[in-house]
Amino acid sequence: MKKSIPIFFTSLAILLSMLLLPSMYAGELSRGAMLSASCEGCHGTNGHSPGSIPDISGKSAEYIRLALEGFRSGERESTVMGRHAKGYTDDEILLIAEYFAQQK
Ligand code: HEC
Repeated sequence: MKKSIPIFFTSLAILLSMLLLPSMYAGELSRGAMLSASCEGCHGTNGHSPGSIPDISGKSAEYIRLALEGFRSGERESTVMGRHAKGYTDDEILLIAEYFAQQK
């Protein structure tokens, strides 16, 4: 009987982590998706731009992050992106870049 107590807690811990981990991951994903929704108005769903605005689908996270940081600092010239990029923190830029890099 005594031996079954650690087993009970171990399985409880495993069960809890199985329940919690995917929802934490989904939370991060949906935050990236939420932040990226404002980009999709111009760049198209998943970054597939239908018009004259640059297509950002298929770009790496690194490319998108560096572009946003360049726009934000003014190092890279822009018409609208400079103003837009100023609204995001470093962490948010990372989430956005990762979100778009994951889109096919
Ligand atoms: C109001 C429309 C608009 C919104 C909203 C917008 N963009 Fe842009 N984006 C542009 C335009 C226009 C350019 C071309 C540079 C410029 O003139 O500002 C551009 C350029 C870019 C580039 C460079 C593309 C390349 O080929 O190098 C990236 C990356 C980018 N945007 C990402 C984003 C992300 C990520 C968001 C959301 C946080 C976003 N944009 C929101 C209009 C927009």
